[in-house]
Amino acid sequence: MAPSVQPPSPPLRTSEGDEKYANVKWEELGFALTPTDCMYVAKCRQGGSFTEGKIVPYGDISISPCSPILNYGQGLFEGLKAYRTEDDRVLLFRPHLNALRMQDGAERLCMTPPSVEHFVEAAKQTVLANKKWVPPPGKGALYLRPLLIGSGANLGVAPAPEYTFLIYASPVGDYHKGSSGLNLKVDHKHHRAHSSGTGGVKSCTNYSPVNCEIVGEAKSSGFSDVLFLDAATGRNIEEASTCNIFIVKGNIVSTPPTSGTILPGITRKSISELALDIGYQVQERDVSVDELLDAEEVFCTGTAVVVKAVETVTFHDKKVKYRTGEEALSKKLHSMLTSIQTGLVEDTKGWMVDI
Ligand code: COI
Repeated sequence: MAPSVQPPSPPLRTSEGDEKYANVKWEELGFALTPTDCMYVAKCRQGGSFTEGKIVPYGDISISPCSPILNYGQGLFEGLKAYRTEDDRVLLFRPHLNALRMQDGAERLCMTPPSVEHFVEAAKQTVLANKKWVPPPGKGALYLRPLLIGSGANLGVAPAPEYTFLIYASPVGDYHKGSSGLNLKVDHKHHRAHSSGTGGVKSCTNYSPVNCEIVGEAKSSGFSDVLFLDAATGRNIEEASTCNIFIVKGNIVSTPPTSGTILPGITRKSISELALDIGYQVQERDVSVDELLDAEEVFCTGTAVVVKAVETVTFHDKKVKYRTGEEALSKKLHSMLTSIQTGLVEDTKGWMVDI
């Protein structure tokens, strides 16, 4: 039976009834949590249907110490953004793709996912209930963080008897606030993902293993992030800890293929399409470190990062500097994408969903 969405109860009151905007210093937003009013929560039994999705006050949740998310990492997360337009509409960027990606991940982790309709409706309700936290046009976005977690108790290693689908929200600005471009360190000792592993889905477990020792150390040496190489050969680039990567040489834009070890980014997909639209060849193929070091331009994409130029890449003792600034393709693609997202240009692609 298809998972169902129940109307929220009590009936939704949007945050608009009070003041138009929450008391936030919008100019100072980076990528830190600013708690908002409400979150969305729905539960379902293993293999059953989600029922009683509700908007509830944002806050801590109660969970069994024996839940598979806490014991075995049975959990997925997503990230998507809502934008306010100059004429005060609020638009969500391609939420159906997040829903589909959550379904792929759920299959990999043996979880029961929400349907696409349920996911999109829940995302809309979360935005509506937190409308005053959607930043003014051009000042950032309301970031939604959907979670799907194995929340029922299970001591043995087995899929959870109950799942929680939750969406919380936070207004955000630039992930790398204050930096004009990224300084990436290529890690040649550790790998983010292995073939047949979970690198291609947004499993919670993909992130913390690279966090402290690897990314933390790189950050304390002044790098913005770490770029990982493929585990099979150690010769090809894969992705950074928070985003996908592209290289540019002449008229060709290349990005590693999403063949199981790389997250199929929604911004990655959208940027490939926009680059094609303006006459670039886009190639999804293995990209070696040698090609990376030889590129004219490098940039990263992700929901949190958006499109960010890479200023330098360091591999062993070699440091390469790339084209950035007004002349960079990444600047143009960033502007094309954000103009669609914020309603500045017509959305001819049907990417934006009105709330
Ligand atoms: C996103 O871009 O939404 C992500 O999930 C990246 C996150 C690790 C900050």
